Amino acid sequence: MQSKIIVALDFDSESKALAFVDRVDPEQCRVKVGKELFTRCGPSLVKQLVARNFDVFLDLKFHDIPNTVAHAVAAAADLGVWMTNVHASGGSDMMNEARESIATLSPAERPILIAVTVLTSLSAEDLQAVGVRASPAEQVLSLARLAQDAGLDGVVCSAAETASLRSALGTEFCLVTPGIRREEDAKGDQKRVVGPAEAIANGSDYLVVGRPITQADVPLEALADFNRAISGS
Ligand code: C5P
Repeated sequence: MQSKIIVALDFDSESKALAFVDRVDPEQCRVKVGKELFTRCGPSLVKQLVARNFDVFLDLKFHDIPNTVAHAVAAAADLGVWMTNVHASGGSDMMNEARESIATLSPAERPILIAVTVLTSLSAEDLQAVGVRASPAEQVLSLARLAQDAGLDGVVCSAAETASLRSALGTEFCLVTPGIRREEDAKGDQKRVVGPAEAIANGSDYLVVGRPITQADVPLEALADFNRAISGS
C-alpha cells in the first residue's frame, strides 16, 4: 500500500527536487509541488515526477472566476497529477465548475480535488480585517461544508481542526494535514504541530511533511521513520 506521507518538495530548483525523488521509491511517499517550485520549474517538472510514477499533489490553491479555475483544474488533470486544490472562499460556483471540469475523466485520470479553507497563517484579527466576523474555527467549518456541498473530495486542514472536521463531515471526506512534526523535529515557522501517529489517529488521511524530511541529515531515514510511525494505521 502506498504511503500516506506527502513530502513537500519545497526546493528552489529542478535539480534539487529530482535529486530527492531519485533516491525515493514512489511506494514510500507521494510528493507535493507548491507555488515556488512550480513557478520556477513549471509543468515540465510535474510531468517528470509523474513519469517517475510519483503521485503528485499540485498545490497551487486556485482562486479566480469559475471559468478560469475550471480550466486551470482541467490543465492540472492533463498533467496527470493525483491531487490538486482550490480556495473554498472562491465560492460554490467556482468549486462546482472546477469539479465539473474533470468529472468526465476516468477515476484513474481524475485528480482528487480538495479545498483550502482558512490559511493557518491568519488569526481571528486578520479575518476581521478582511470582513469575516466568524472565528477561524467557525469559518473553517463553514467553508469545509461549502466544499463538501460542491462535491469536492476534501480539504486541507491543520492538525488542530482534523478531529472536529472528521466528526462533522464524515468518514469519506479527505483530510490532508500539514504541520506534522516528531518530538525531535524543529518546528520552524509552524505554530501548532502534531505528531504523525496522532494526526492519523485524529482522522487525517494524508500528512504533508516538508523540512523534517527534506532538510534531514539523511532524508531517506527520516522518511522511513515517518512511515514507521504511521504503519498499521
Ligand atoms: O516544512 P513543513 O513540514 O513545515 O512544510 C509544510 C508544507 O505544507 C509546506 O509546503 C507548506 O506550504 C504547506 N502548508 C502548511 N500549512 C498550511 C497549508 C500548507 O504548512 N496550512
